[in-house]
Amino acid sequence: MNREAHSGTARLAVRQSLPHDSAIKHVTGRAAYIDDILEPAGLLHVYFGTSRCAHGRIRKLDLSKVLQQPGVVAVVSAKDIPGLNDFSPMHTLDEEIFASKTVHFHGQVLFAVATKDRLTARRAATLADIEIEELPAILDIETAMEQQAYVDQPHEMKRGDARTALSQAEHRFQGEMVLGGQDHFYLEGQAAMSVPQEDGDLMIYSSSQHPSELQHLVAQALGRPNHAITVEVRRMGGAFGGKETQAAQWAIITALLADKTGRPAKLRLDRDDDMISTGKRHDFRIRYDVGHDQSGRIQGIDIELAAGCGMSADLSGPISDRAMFHSDNAYYLPNVRIMSYRCRTHTVSNTAFRGFGGPQGMMGIERVMDAIAANLELDPLQVRIVNLYGIKDRNVTPYHMTVDDNVLPELIDDLVAMSAYTRRCKEVKQFNGSSKVIKRGIALTPVKFGISFTTTFLNQAGALVHVYKDGSIHLNHGGTEMGQGLFIKVAQVVADAFRVDLERVKITATNTSKVPNTSATAASSGTDMNAMAALDACMTIRQRLVSFAAEQYKVTENSIRFEPNQVMIGAITRSFDELVMEAYLGRISLSATGFYRTPKIHYDRDTASGRPFLYFSYGAAVSEVELDSLTGEHRIRQVDILHDVGRSLNPAIDLGQIEGGYVQGAGWLTSEELWWDKQGALRTHAPSTYKIPVCSDVPEAFNVQIWEKGENREPTIHKSKAVGEPPLMLAISVHCAINQAITAAITKGESQTGVPPLDVPATPERILTCIHDMQQATVADPDKPGG
Ligand code: MTE
Ligand code: HPA
Ligand code: MOS
Repeated sequence: MNREAHSGTARLAVRQSLPHDSAIKHVTGRAAYIDDILEPAGLLHVYFGTSRCAHGRIRKLDLSKVLQQPGVVAVVSAKDIPGLNDFSPMHTLDEEIFASKTVHFHGQVLFAVATKDRLTARRAATLADIEIEELPAILDIETAMEQQAYVDQPHEMKRGDARTALSQAEHRFQGEMVLGGQDHFYLEGQAAMSVPQEDGDLMIYSSSQHPSELQHLVAQALGRPNHAITVEVRRMGGAFGGKETQAAQWAIITALLADKTGRPAKLRLDRDDDMISTGKRHDFRIRYDVGHDQSGRIQGIDIELAAGCGMSADLSGPISDRAMFHSDNAYYLPNVRIMSYRCRTHTVSNTAFRGFGGPQGMMGIERVMDAIAANLELDPLQVRIVNLYGIKDRNVTPYHMTVDDNVLPELIDDLVAMSAYTRRCKEVKQFNGSSKVIKRGIALTPVKFGISFTTTFLNQAGALVHVYKDGSIHLNHGGTEMGQGLFIKVAQVVADAFRVDLERVKITATNTSKVPNTSATAASSGTDMNAMAALDACMTIRQRLVSFAAEQYKVTENSIRFEPNQVMIGAITRSFDELVMEAYLGRISLSATGFYRTPKIHYDRDTASGRPFLYFSYGAAVSEVELDSLTGEHRIRQVDILHDVGRSLNPAIDLGQIEGGYVQGAGWLTSEELWWDKQGALRTHAPSTYKIPVCSDVPEAFNVQIWEKGENREPTIHKSKAVGEPPLMLAISVHCAINQAITAAITKGESQTGVPPLDVPATPERILTCIHDMQQATVADPDKPGG
């Protein structure tokens, strides 16, 4: 890869701001999602029936009325599964495809029905005769903690001596914060179609981030070998972690019905059922005990994380681990103990969601920063800066990894300048001094996010590249496209490897028969891993072309150079196509697989120490909000972001990820509220009651920039950095800014007010309650306005 030696005038594919490869198809409606695939003859439409109670023993499941309904072809329930009735991703065997004896949440699947059309299927699914004997249900973290109901063992992480440091600290305080979950609200809901093949094999089309796992789970449910099942994913209409493990169940159900009837079977979830029957971001309860000095520096800290996991383990173990890994966010914690509890509740099993526990972990420490600042009456940014990771003695994480790539001191300086932070802080104060009802707040928060799957063996990827006789290139790899721009980035890398135009590279659907045993496209590592695997395949083919040309034209390999769409072979020039055709005639293989495993990483979970991440992605954001202290409503006035993506492979795609991540994070923290009733039924299961951000919620001034000095010191693909998840956590600055505006709304007496105990999401209701409670606790003094 010698870029400098290459002097052509053609545009290089990498580092270009190219549009998403499906951009035109997305906006014209021509991009095919699962439900758009041309329906095969004899297709059956599938729907399912669910439990109407949170916990109970199944006394009766009589499906005869369902079967008698005109148009119904088949029904399946637990007893019709030829193999294993389980789809738990980590083989915890705690998640049945169809509940067999007991139900563990309101909305759990009991059976499925296949009919000639979708409406009939949905109607028939309501006709089952079901009796469930109710059992006591645990519906929240609080109760699960009291009863020590866990899906996984509690886990501890520590460095230094937190207890002693806390007892000797100059200042010490405790606090608690509660964070709600978040629905993925992907535009394309869960969907799958299974099509029978020869010998009882199945071809499965699914909207899944993890085709390999889906293949293995379908095989397991049918009692067939993995090779009997092929899974293909062209694209997802959004996933955000919600299709990492939880796409499997729906695909398995279509597979069971296709297997039983010998006919193709398709299932697409209705939005409400998707929200009721699939898992969400984990809700958390965070407790902290903090000791700090007069400058605001943390001396010792004890953090307790309790995650609401729902009825099964799913990925709650690694998600809780990642929350622990990010409890420090960007700050050095000299004496630290982190305890994590993974609570079992009788609610839907929570799952991966952009950030994978990281956002929840970070919220705790960012609240601590604001609390220290409030206690010492310091500028919160100053407190954040004195606590940042530093060099030498202040660069080791709670899991004993050395932070040696920290760019935050410099990046924050740049952001302070870019956003005019200092001047705007003064303006906010002035505004609050003269405005009685409307109050403003401004906050700068950093992000440091670890890149790699923390389960080390998952950090592997494969690719398959063919060069055809005409010089066109077929690209396949194990990563899946969910809108994030993975496919275009990998195609750019491939075009660059052969020095050909991007148009020559055909992007193809992810398919388990082309690249096997892949990991989920997750942990933001899709490009890092799959682009490396694809490059490996390209380099194999390139080397074969070079060896062939050297022999054919009697020149040394060193005298062969790839230039834009042509190859210099000593003094001779051949177009890329010509050389490819000659190589074919010379019986050279023009197809290769590629493989990548992330170097350097290791982690020992028993001692909670090692290097789980290859590197960190960094960023920081300044958010300014305006709050109406009488209605509790707020709007974001301005956001300035600097984000480190190393050297970007595609700045347009990366900017899109940063903007989208921020807005999605702001939705979680301010407006998206999940609410279950006392029976454990989710009552916010449609956009009418669950408020995701819309275009008008995007900040009025939204200044997003890629940090130009960014460069990855690790040997990643073209020195780029992962970008998928980290920007979501930039939105923490909104929550902190709202908290500042709340403080300004309190009419202070003589005493300090401390940091407002605002939970997540910061809905108008919560904000008003917070203002009310704080005002009650303060001695009113009309001569001293807030601010
Ligand atoms: N961007 C879009 N448009 N749609 C998505 O579903 N998922 C996010 C992020 N960005 C997502 C997205 C999540 S949760 C992850 S882990 C990464 O993309 C996965 O893709 P990558 O590894 O290729 O960045
Ligand atoms: N991130 C996302 N998905 C995962 C991870 C992770 O760290 N580990 C296992 N699945
Ligand atoms: Mo992303 S939560 O790792 O799918």
